Amino acid sequence: MTLVERLRGRESTSAKHLVAPGPADEEIDAVLRAAVAVPEHGAIRPWRFLLVREDGQHRLSDVFVEDLLRERPDASAAEVDKRRAAPLRSPLLIVVAAEIREDHPKTPPVEQVVSAGLAAYVIQACFADMGYGAVWVTGPPAYSDHVKTALGLAPKDAIVGFIHVGTRGPDTPPGPKRRPDPADYMRTWPGD
Ligand SMILES: Cc1cc2nc3c(=O)[nH]c(=O)nc-3n(C[C@H](O)[C@H](O)[C@H](O)COP(=O)(O)O)c2cc1C
Repeated sequence: MTLVERLRGRESTSAKHLVAPGPADEEIDAVLRAAVAVPEHGAIRPWRFLLVREDGQHRLSDVFVEDLLRERPDASAAEVDKRRAAPLRSPLLIVVAAEIREDHPKTPPVEQVVSAGLAAYVIQACFADMGYGAVWVTGPPAYSDHVKTALGLAPKDAIVGFIHVGTRGPDTPPGPKRRPDPADYMRTWPGD
């Protein structure tokens, strides 16, 4: 199958369908080698990949709850439970971040975030291509200084995504998904 065909068939698997086992260390290494092959401007390599598993997921879960209660001390028990469960929904969670250089002469922060976003896409797409389920999520914790600091990042840095990875469970809906027609998003410029 060509790369075009594989990318056309790429799809996410909802975290609720992800089960153990997660990928082996060699598979993670292979995928991250593809991730660091994304385009980036200025050789500043802004991407950071944090592998979070088991105890790490439970610690991140505590951080997510702390973050919620700092923002909203009156959050309901259901909201706390949902936030606590969020990082635990897969055997492997990869936090993809951009460590931002704010004063780089050639590469503004937006380009650093874009490059980290490409890396997140490659990670999601490669694990899916290997037969795992994977999904890219964000939500309020991605934009929280408390979460960033707990992860060893600075408030200026960007968490571009939490990539959940695991085996596709038995209830995973079969693909492929319907995709839009690119013609709806395209025009020839400047036109006739
Ligand atoms: C930056 C970014 C953040 C996202 N955050 C979430 C999220 O928090 N929750 C969610 O269900 N999907 C989120 N998504 C969408 C999923 O990753 C996924 O693309 C979507 O479910 C559609 O599935 P597909 O990738 O198979 O088309 C996000 C996507 C991007 C690019």
